Amino acid sequence: MPSRTFRSFVVHREASGQVTGGVQPLPFSDLPAGNVLIRVRYSSLNYKDAMAATGHPGITKNFPHVPGIDAAGTVVESEDARFQPGDEVIATGHELGVERWGGWAEFVRVPGDWVVPLPDGITLEESMVLGTAGFTAAQSVQALLAHGITPDQGSVIVSGATGGVGSVSVMILAKLGFEVTAVSGKAVMHPWLKEIGARHVVGREELQEEQPRPLLKGKYAAGIDTVGGPTLTTMLKKVSYRGCVTCCGVAGGAEMNGTVFPFILRGITLSGIDSAWCPDDLRVNYWKLLASEWKPDSLASVKRLTSLESIDRYVDAILHGKNVGRVVLDLGERTSPE
Ligand SMILES: NC(=O)c1ccc[n+]([C@@H]2O[C@H](COP(=O)([O-])OP(=O)(O)OC[C@H]3O[C@@H](n4cnc5c(N)ncnc54)[C@H](OP(=O)(O)O)[C@@H]3O)[C@@H](O)[C@H]2O)c1
Repeated sequence: MPSRTFRSFVVHREASGQVTGGVQPLPFSDLPAGNVLIRVRYSSLNYKDAMAATGHPGITKNFPHVPGIDAAGTVVESEDARFQPGDEVIATGHELGVERWGGWAEFVRVPGDWVVPLPDGITLEESMVLGTAGFTAAQSVQALLAHGITPDQGSVIVSGATGGVGSVSVMILAKLGFEVTAVSGKAVMHPWLKEIGARHVVGREELQEEQPRPLLKGKYAAGIDTVGGPTLTTMLKKVSYRGCVTCCGVAGGAEMNGTVFPFILRGITLSGIDSAWCPDDLRVNYWKLLASEWKPDSLASVKRLTSLESIDRYVDAILHGKNVGRVVLDLGERTSPE
């Protein structure tokens, strides 16, 4: 082991309830149990990480806490025969960065079952440009394909399109030949959404009804919703007969105030997406797809690199719906000398 401590972004809750966070050394002896120790080379910022970094009680129960639901790096020690020191690997989801210290640190220790070998066709950095957001996008696209949605059926609508899950969904769908309608509240980013693959770009008002009605004109073959709340309810009403809508996010609200009519009159399917506990065999396959046939062509244009010292600058933006693309955390090649 190169040093007795390693650098991490640590979140503390004071006795007053105030939550603070910053970079500090942590001793290796404080790492949780697990049979694979990984030198993290890249992590990323997801909405859930921003919640963890601000001590959201729904995410962070124990303090001090290290956020980071994503980690990609090199195995340093392994008691799991599937992994050897030097192997390049990805660990995302499960309890990482939630119940267990996560990837906003030079090292993580995890159970071997959480570890996915880095597939051919993708670098460690690219894997974290995708991260849990990309993995969730892949699951969402797969749900539409499994439902039988094909490019000739019409446009697929994607909400929260400039965000992590939204932007990767746009790119994968475009790569698979789908006509994508991207929904975004950031007018200034509409040309960018076309650059990464959207055919049409509309404002958030497309999914915000003034006069609630049980059904609206079925304009879209299917939808990927990353926002939740009224956005999801409206999307369900605008998808055409036997369409499918996926649901993964809560950035716009956790309530659903619709009726059953999209389901019982149009045969719409609502498909729930969970990335944290996706079965491990499927997880490996999604990563293989993301590294090959589904690998987005414009990955570089959604990436913003940052450091452990600067990651908290992006936390507020993601919590307030202002994030664009993917913030990737570069943990450097040299471990800190503490
Ligand atoms: N179920 C799972 O396993 C899973 C996995 C990953 C993420 N998620 C969830 O999925 C959501 C998206 O994650 P992300 O990492 O892509 O976050 P993100 O990068 O912050 O993207 C969310 C996007 O939603 C739009 N938005 C935000 N607030 C809104 C509002 N009030 N009304 C309408 N649109 C709004 C914004 O896009 P525009 O400005 O372009 O409209 C924003 O960029 C989060 O809720 C996250 O927790 C769930």
